[in-house]
Amino acid sequence: MVRSALITDVPWILELERVTFNMPRERIDYQDFIVDDLKRGYVDLKIIEDEGYIGNIAVKEEFRRNGIAGNLIEEVLKRAKSGGLSFVTLEVRESNIPAIMLYTKFGFEVNGVIKNHYFSPKENALVMTVRSF
Ligand code: COA
Repeated sequence: MVRSALITDVPWILELERVTFNMPRERIDYQDFIVDDLKRGYVDLKIIEDEGYIGNIAVKEEFRRNGIAGNLIEEVLKRAKSGGLSFVTLEVRESNIPAIMLYTKFGFEVNGVIKNHYFSPKENALVMTVRSF
């Protein structure tokens, strides 16, 4: 089950962000977040007019490969449809095969490359976008 984040979710979201990413965000707008109700993972979706931007998705390591990220992305796509968005897009490290496979499974396609977008380590970003929900 997934739900919109509450302000009380902020500490565990920030902690999962910190243990997951090299350059974790230190501040978040919890209202953009969709979370697993057992606090095993999150995704954030910023909506600007009719455009959706996924910031990050993360699942606690011990709970991966159980469909949790899939449930979160399904909810993103449900909201994209009901909100009448034109597309949902994101950036992902080009070596991040699990994430690329996840997004591909849910209909995202690579439509751009941003050279040396990431640091430590330096790496290209793939831009992946879905337009039909
Ligand atoms: N290798 C290959 N494909 C993988 C994978 C892996 N290790 N992990 C997930 N996938 C793909 C598969 O297509 C899978 O579908 P399938 O089970 O039918 O094969 C699909 O994703 C859904 O898997 P799910 O179990 O819902 O994913 P998850 O809950 O394990 O979470 C991540 C996937 C990417 C969110 C998780 O590995 C994670 O938190 N990684 C670190 C953070 C990160 O890299 N986030 C992306 C930033 S852009």
